[in-house]
Amino acid sequence: EMTPEEAAFQDRIDADIKIEPKDWMPDEYRATLVRQIGQHAHSEIVGQLPEGNWITRAPTLERKAILLAKVQDEAGHGLYLYCAAETLGVSRDELTEDLLSGRMKYSSIFNYPTLNWADIGAVGWLVDGAAIMNQVPLQRTSYGPYSRAMIRICKEESFHQRQGYDIMMKMAQGTEAQKKMAQDALNRFWYPSLMMFGPSDKESVHSAQSMAWKIKIDSNDELRQRFVDQTVPQAEYLGLTVPDDKLKWNEERGHYDFSEPDWTEFFNVLKGKGPCNTERMNGRKRAWEDGAWVRDGLMAHAQKRAARKVA
Ligand code: ACO
Repeated sequence: EMTPEEAAFQDRIDADIKIEPKDWMPDEYRATLVRQIGQHAHSEIVGQLPEGNWITRAPTLERKAILLAKVQDEAGHGLYLYCAAETLGVSRDELTEDLLSGRMKYSSIFNYPTLNWADIGAVGWLVDGAAIMNQVPLQRTSYGPYSRAMIRICKEESFHQRQGYDIMMKMAQGTEAQKKMAQDALNRFWYPSLMMFGPSDKESVHSAQSMAWKIKIDSNDELRQRFVDQTVPQAEYLGLTVPDDKLKWNEERGHYDFSEPDWTEFFNVLKGKGPCNTERMNGRKRAWEDGAWVRDGLMAHAQKRAARKVA
């Protein structure tokens, strides 16, 4: 049973009127947004680690400059998203502490290693490609600050996806050894990319309520299908093979049939048992501890200035 306040809130959502920070909202709506935006922000920041790993080893100066810019963009995305979460009454420090204590998640995908240069191509092409597939609809999400952050993020993500595909193209058209590296990267990143959209709709605990509130616009399975349909022709153009024997165009459905990822592996990664969970969390903890003196210094400076103004 909805209270009159809740019914009025739902009417606004149904009429596509954005919810803004000072508007009344159900506690659950606020909590769901903090969870999703916070997880999203953490993903952008943790996502810098597998790519940052290759900045010093990019094959040319140009590739290095591009990768450096891309990794900096991801930091910017994290910051917009932490700001969007702050409008809901939770500070960036609190969210970071929730990440470091394991109370909050970040995307499963960033727990996989980047083993060779082709992986940087695969990350741009597949991981950023999946990220855009999920984020373009979120530009229409019901919470104003989140939807506006998504607009700029999507523009930058599109560039990231193109640069990844460009790396794949170079590798796929290169020597036999380079083509093998490209295929190997696709083999390893395909299923983890499909997992980015979250569990199947049957297992997605939050989807029904989040979609009613237009926090989410499409279901996990819908987005996953859209990603497969878009990506398979791109793999064909590269002359690479998607590692799925069951992949087949289904004329009747107008979509590709494909194999589900290994959901046991997905839930294990969420529990912290992926190949790089420990390394990623240690990276974040180290950065947080190493930066403590900067935060303390800034706070002390702000307090001094505030005291001077009062005097
Ligand atoms: N990685 C880690 N956790 C996940 C993932 C994933 N790929 N997919 C789902 N989960 C978690 C959910 O957070 C939820 O856990 P919780 O209840 O402990 O918070 C649980 O699995 C159940 O899943 P759902 O009910 O389907 O969760 P939800 O409705 O939040 O949908 C989704 C998941 C699609 C990822 C959604 O949160 C979303 O759209 N988020 C915004 C986009 C985003 O975070 N992108 C980050 C990666 S892209 C990038 O940063 C480059």
